[in-house]
Amino acid sequence: MKALILSGGYGTRLRPLTYSQQKQLIPVANKPVLFYAIEDVIEIGVKEIGIILGPNKEQVIETVNSKNWNVDIEFIYQGEPKGLAHAILVAEEFLDDDEFVMYLGDNILKDGITNHAQKFKELNPDSLILLTYVDDPQRFGVAELDSEGKVKRLVEKPKEFISNYALVGIYFFKPIIIEACKSIKPSWRNELEITDAIQWLIENGYRVEASIVKGWWKDTGKPEDILEANRLILDDIESKNEGIINNSTITGRVIIESGSTIENSVIKGPCIIGRDTKIVNSYIGPYTSIGSNCLIEEMEIEDSVIMDECVLTNAGRIIESLIGKNVKIQKCISKPRGYRIVVGDYSNIEMR
Ligand code: TTP
Repeated sequence: MKALILSGGYGTRLRPLTYSQQKQLIPVANKPVLFYAIEDVIEIGVKEIGIILGPNKEQVIETVNSKNWNVDIEFIYQGEPKGLAHAILVAEEFLDDDEFVMYLGDNILKDGITNHAQKFKELNPDSLILLTYVDDPQRFGVAELDSEGKVKRLVEKPKEFISNYALVGIYFFKPIIIEACKSIKPSWRNELEITDAIQWLIENGYRVEASIVKGWWKDTGKPEDILEANRLILDDIESKNEGIINNSTITGRVIIESGSTIENSVIKGPCIIGRDTKIVNSYIGPYTSIGSNCLIEEMEIEDSVIMDECVLTNAGRIIESLIGKNVKIQKCISKPRGYRIVVGDYSNIEMR
């Protein structure tokens, strides 16, 4: 089996971060979201992975190639992100009549996909889609199931109730899906929708089965989703200290990576501090991930993701925040008093 991991798309809901950074590279617990998908497909024994690239293609290639995965990875440029089914068509040559798992590169699944891959093998359907129970199905693509659990119909953001089972961004396919993708027309948003391609399979007599995801699943499409995924991943970490701790209190599960120093500070886990970062006279509270090469001085930070190379000094208390790379936030005492702000388009600042 091959894997097709989607790392394209504009990620408009994550602007301004996605102006300079492909959204699948945003770190959750200091690891790019995309790496969770790569690890999951390697875990089921996939040896050939195709990665769909979008607007920031070079940085995806560079980040993926920074690690030795011990599998073949082919990068496939999609051009315009014209939909998930379009991504399959762009990858037709790579897929080459093999069955494959398609994994949206901004999705994270607590328990991986081993059970679902096993089910795909055992049931041997034309497609196996992953579903999860949600309380608000009107926000999702939803599947209606028959009494045997086979998929009868897919509906995008249903206005009337049809089921509580929402589609998770992981799908197993036989090669027939390529014909399905070629047979459908673009939707109202001018994308070739994967839901339409799966619906085509059902309507043309192909068998589509479902597999229910029991542990948590997160689609990291919006800032609050990144923070939630960060909490969920940090909930499962084990403590590790490779840094230097001076006159500080560390409680709970905390990872401190090599080259980092913690001075006169309080760190309360779960949290992770990246490489070569310095924390001085500060409080770092639960559910915080701080990247590498940061300086955090005279700060209180809780429940936040701070990316690499940031300098945050003497600027009060930061909570529930997502801060990109190379950001400086610091107290300045010169007059006249007031906030002096240089932020990109679509930034979001709440002053409480
Ligand atoms: P979405 O989150 O639905 O789309 P998006 O990335 O464009 O984000 P936004 O709605 O905020 O603008 O995409 C789901 C996943 O699939 C995501 O990982 C990006 C990827 N994708 C592609 O690789 N190619 C595409 O053509 C599309 C639409 C998405």
